[in-house]
Amino acid sequence: MGFSTDAIHVGQEPDPATGAIVVPIYQTSTFVQEELGKHKGYEYARTSNPTRAALECNLAALERGRFGFAFASGMAAINAVMSLFKVGDHIVAGHNLYGGTFRLFERVLRDSGLSFTYANTCQLEEVEKAFRPNTRMLYLETPTNPVMEITDLAAAARLAREYQVVLGVDNTFMSPYFQRPLELGADIVIHSTTKYLNGHSDGVGGAVILNDAELAARLKFIQNAAGAILGPFDSWLVLRGVKTLAVRMERHNVNGLAVARHLEAHPRVEKVYYPGLPSHPQHELAKKQMTGSGGMLAFETGSLENARTVLKSVRLCSLAESLGGVETLISHPATMTHAIVPPEERQRLGITDGLVRISVGIEDVEDIITDLDQALAKI
Ligand SMILES: Cc1ncc(COP(=O)(O)O)c(C=O)c1O
Repeated sequence: MGFSTDAIHVGQEPDPATGAIVVPIYQTSTFVQEELGKHKGYEYARTSNPTRAALECNLAALERGRFGFAFASGMAAINAVMSLFKVGDHIVAGHNLYGGTFRLFERVLRDSGLSFTYANTCQLEEVEKAFRPNTRMLYLETPTNPVMEITDLAAAARLAREYQVVLGVDNTFMSPYFQRPLELGADIVIHSTTKYLNGHSDGVGGAVILNDAELAARLKFIQNAAGAILGPFDSWLVLRGVKTLAVRMERHNVNGLAVARHLEAHPRVEKVYYPGLPSHPQHELAKKQMTGSGGMLAFETGSLENARTVLKSVRLCSLAESLGGVETLISHPATMTHAIVPPEERQRLGITDGLVRISVGIEDVEDIITDLDQALAKI
């Protein structure tokens, strides 16, 4: 069925015990068995829980994948995916990942024997040069955070297939409503459900969706063995959030474009990064592989002082990490989400001290614009 119908119904049959239309929160650690080896499909809630199972089924459908797995956070999801690899394996990763992902790779997984090379995945020649005989995965985000660079997913998938490496895509920024990497040839999709999927800034979670049955069996094993599962209440919150994903994303998109256009014309703003603007260098590619541009954008104020003034002066926009909630959040990547990235690398990526990121919410857009205008007037 259509995306919105799936979002509301897949995995969410009326409760077989009571007819409840909403999947109940099965807040239980274990399930009573009738006799040895005879149970109703659930034994212990780390292995499987009906609320989590409903969410996993739902998210798989939305990404048009066969298997879904829900984790305690986006980072737990990424860590579980990386557990598919072993000592000596090499991963080529996008050069502009979420700072926490970079930290996991460099400060945790490198010590466990994986190696990483970072490449600009918008330039697939760079990726190809980075491949080695022991490369097992190409891992990327598109659009990137916060400068919104776009990787051609279909071309990246062709390259990955040619070199027999797994293509993993963090699809947090777009959500499956605007971009479905599996349909473009990716092998694994990852989400921080903390963001658009939950959508209400009231839960931390992660998800992995994939098609390959063998990889899925290994990931299911890792999910149970390592145990970083999403709890029943948090699973329920994401299920509830996802029901309105389509309408929320439409509004994020309308508001995002309106704010981007306004800032682009603003005399105090030097540059705006938003794939929905024709001035974005990859606007055509964005239109090809995404059905909208969403609510994430960044803009250049010119200096740390200017950025500080804007962030201190906003009233409606909240100064906070995270993104993808109904409320507009504003942040300073250089000292917040990307503080872990070395300063020279940040400069190279365009994450300057004057860069401000906005997760445009679904409030009345005139109010968001008025707030930004009064803050920019203080520069
Ligand atoms: C693109 C992206 N991936 C992964 C994560 C990590 O997710 P979580 O904070 O749910 O662990 C984030 C968090 O901001 C993110 O922005």
